Amino acid sequence: MGLWNRWLLFVLLVGLNVVCQDYDNEATNEIFEYEIEEETPPQVPPPPIPQPPDYGDPYMLYPLQCAPECFCPMSYPLAMYCDHRKLKVVPNIPRQIRHLYIQFNDIEALTAAPFANATSLREINLSHNSLKSSLVDRNVFAKLKDLLQLHLEYNELEEVPPSLPKTLQRLFLGFNKISKLPADALQGLASITVLDLCNNRLTDAGIKGKTLSSLKSLMQINICGNKLRSMPSDLPPSVLQLSLENNSIASIPDGYFKKTPQLMSLRVSHNKLRTVPYKVFNLSSLMELNLGHNQLSKTFYIPTALEHLYLNHNEFLDLNVSLMCPSVDITKPNLLTYIRIDNNRLKGPLDFYAYTCFPRIRVVFYGEQKKAEVIEKKTIPPRRINPRRKLDKTRGGGDSKSD
Ligand SMILES: *[C@@H]1O[C@H](CO)[C@@H](O)[C@H](O)[C@H]1NC(C)=O
Ligand SMILES: *[C@@H]1O[C@H](CO)[C@@H](O)[C@H](O)[C@H]1NC(C)=O
Ligand SMILES: *[C@@H]1O[C@H](CO)[C@@H](O)[C@H](O)[C@H]1NC(C)=O
Ligand SMILES: *[C@@H]1O[C@H](CO)[C@@H](O)[C@H](O)[C@H]1NC(C)=O
Ligand SMILES: *[C@@H]1O[C@H](CO)[C@@H](O)[C@H](O)[C@H]1NC(C)=O
Repeated sequence: MGLWNRWLLFVLLVGLNVVCQDYDNEATNEIFEYEIEEETPPQVPPPPIPQPPDYGDPYMLYPLQCAPECFCPMSYPLAMYCDHRKLKVVPNIPRQIRHLYIQFNDIEALTAAPFANATSLREINLSHNSLKSSLVDRNVFAKLKDLLQLHLEYNELEEVPPSLPKTLQRLFLGFNKISKLPADALQGLASITVLDLCNNRLTDAGIKGKTLSSLKSLMQINICGNKLRSMPSDLPPSVLQLSLENNSIASIPDGYFKKTPQLMSLRVSHNKLRTVPYKVFNLSSLMELNLGHNQLSKTFYIPTALEHLYLNHNEFLDLNVSLMCPSVDITKPNLLTYIRIDNNRLKGPLDFYAYTCFPRIRVVFYGEQKKAEVIEKKTIPPRRINPRRKLDKTRGGGDSKSD
């Protein structure tokens, strides 16, 4: 894959806002100023990939049909809308339907029967239902030989549905009750590029084995909001984006990313990292690194391609820029443009050498630093809590969780 193609892919995966954020500041010449004001942190939830309407073959030979419970727009006859209808079962899906939107219903069980003719399905949205693994037939999806995208988030699944078709490219399983990925669950899904498993009950033991490395096309994997204590041990080399926020990960093994040399975005915020190996992030394509809300205090090597670095809500007393950037190569400048370092224990501004080392820097979000008293609170018996301080702490947009 060429560099440009990879870039495009990344833009699609991560969403344009990652790339465009903060550039507004360029015009206002505040290059060397600190950002003091609280701002909404540029958090980037993985966006749904925009799909152009599928108008299909204009000379279709079969008559257009629609399940009586649902709506099939004249202008978009290959889509059937059955969402928000309190349905308890999936209606029979006519042969021509390629896009089935049946999210926000009360469906607990799935049988293969309504899907018997629906072999043209490309996309199914079954999110926000009450699907239970024990009530999902083994072969519901097996015969859907063109299925590309399957939304199953916000259900009550305890397992990944078996027998998913090999064509599947994007699988969304967030907000379920999945606690393990059996080795065969995802076997043979060689086309999967996006796998979302956030907000389930996965443990280290639950994802061990060769489960994930068999996904040869996997580019984006989200395992945020689970119960991991260590980094997933078995990722395929194709991975570009790894999201592990809100777990209990305590360390990153040295050389961990040798398996995923193309990684562009890594999010491990809201975990229990205390230190990371000095050179562990030396990856040639890494552009976004989010380590906010951990317990880090030692600086590490900043790779050349990195553009956005989040170190907020950690335990840094200082940032040793000579360690972050041991040498300056004018022919290959560091690309860092944004660094967020608020809510640490920093004593003074960033070393001025940083601006030589990171010539593209636009925003240093220094913000407020943790008060020394917070340390005392841990050793001294609890005192009366000043409600005002509590308010101050929770100010400042969606990223207000403090440890
Ligand atoms: C499948 O198509 C056949 C022939 O058109 C029809 O008789 C049958 O009811 C359909 N089954 C479902 C589940 O839609
Ligand atoms: C499918 O469901 C997801 C999650 O509820 C939602 O974000 C997405 O917009 C839905 N897609 C369509 C095309 O309705
Ligand atoms: C992690 O948890 C925090 C606090 O509960 C929440 O604000 C944030 O959205 C979560 N992040 C992800 C990616 O789930
Ligand atoms: C980072 O990796 C590159 C390429 O693999 C290597 O040339 C360079 O010496 C490494 N830098 C450090 C500080 O290890
Ligand atoms: C940064 O780290 C280097 C190497 O450990 C050390 O020699 C230097 O004194 C440190 N600089 C500061 C400002 O702490």
